[in-house]
Amino acid sequence: MFHDPELMPFTPRARPSLRVAAFNQIENWPAEAYRDRFATMRGLWPLLPPTLLICDPILIEEALVTRADAFERDRFQTRALSNVVNRDSLFFAEGADWRWQRRAAAPAFRHENLLALVPIFARCASDLAERWRRSDGVLDVAPEMSKLTFAIILRAVLGDGERRLDERKFLEALAPSLASVGWRFLYARIGLPNAFPFPGSRRTAQSIAWLREATTDLVAHRRAQSKSAEDILGLLLSAQDPETGRMMTDDELVSNLYTFMIAGHETSATALAWALWLLAKDQPTQTRLRAEIDAAIGAREIEAQDLEKLGFARQVLCEAMRLFPPAIGIGRAPREDATLGPLRLSAGRLAIFATFCVHRHEKLWEEPHGFDPERFAPERAKARHRCAFLPFGAGPRVCIGMNFAMIEMIVLLASLVRAFRFRPAPRHRMVLGTGLTLRSRTGLPLAVERV
Ligand code: HEM
Repeated sequence: MFHDPELMPFTPRARPSLRVAAFNQIENWPAEAYRDRFATMRGLWPLLPPTLLICDPILIEEALVTRADAFERDRFQTRALSNVVNRDSLFFAEGADWRWQRRAAAPAFRHENLLALVPIFARCASDLAERWRRSDGVLDVAPEMSKLTFAIILRAVLGDGERRLDERKFLEALAPSLASVGWRFLYARIGLPNAFPFPGSRRTAQSIAWLREATTDLVAHRRAQSKSAEDILGLLLSAQDPETGRMMTDDELVSNLYTFMIAGHETSATALAWALWLLAKDQPTQTRLRAEIDAAIGAREIEAQDLEKLGFARQVLCEAMRLFPPAIGIGRAPREDATLGPLRLSAGRLAIFATFCVHRHEKLWEEPHGFDPERFAPERAKARHRCAFLPFGAGPRVCIGMNFAMIEMIVLLASLVRAFRFRPAPRHRMVLGTGLTLRSRTGLPLAVERV
């Protein structure tokens, strides 16, 4: 078990702070959330209302899995995220509309289609390794991973030959809107309108308009070509609801394309960056992982059939997502007044299933703040409640990209750890921040040396 003070870099606050709420929501979540079944984050009268945090896997399973129909996405997270993930996309759809959008997208995430993407994952990783070899030294792996996973999601969504989008410009435009999520969630909670300014709000609005335009152009360009394609956009374009015959409107296509491009890269990028940062701190685990990769693959390109030989890589990624889950929590509200275990919830009341706290709960994990990929050895993982570890959510609305992300991350992690040794950057202090994903506000610079 590896320990380091930066693995739990803050003390939960007894009294919430508005400043903290905008930059790192989880610091406001009280200490009881790490030891009780549920906890209430105290309010800041008259501004911030109290917030219910649920941390018990049994209650979470009931709400997300067994009684999923009784709950819907809550309006606060919907408002906070709707800047980055569009409102009329699969992510926010409900009821029959959600069911058909999910069915329309499902073929793209079938196992055999995901395995067919492995050569793309491996090629993008070796292009990055090639670039890193020319620039040995200290690199911030957080933006590096964003560029890498964005290049991949573009190829998965738009096809391997698509070069219409300026990737660098798109990522630059995206950064302010990802960072604005914390402000928007805070404003939603304290009842301020979306249009209320925050630092960088004008730039954010301009960026969002540009991103939408760029995505609309991609859809229009594809519509103008008559040929069908097997990439995600191609599947969405040809999807038809078997019950109603309905197809996606242009607005729905643009929203879903945009959602896949954002939800499909930023999350995997953060998980990978945290995994590399943890491995840089824990050198023996890094050496063990490299030995697994060398034994399984040697110097040749990684192929789909290698995945099952990379079990320890999978364990490292799960342990990284346990300590630093890209999505810190899942918000829901009951459609009507409801009970959940001992809790009475009125219709529309926000309940946060507090993934960050569940993953570090003292009743669920031994030495919860320590890094130990052995926790995810198959036998130990099987013995655990399925909602004790929920980086991708659970139930019918579980992340549709879960298997895509796991395969992608294993290939990328194996490709990079095989080629480079990672060490902590001297004098760097990590500062946690919550936006769309859980990130370090000071980046994750690492010393990267060729092996
Ligand atoms: C490490 C990577 C990822 C993490 C941690 C992650 C996490 C999540 C979580 C927590 C949810 C919400 C579940 C809920 O509300 O119950 C979600 C939903 C979703 N994710 Fe992911 N995700 C990842 C990668 C991806 C990828 C690669 C894609 C697409 C290519 C994707 C697309 C989506 C979509 C479309 C939804 C909405 C699904 C629905 O409501 O039916 N995600 N993800």
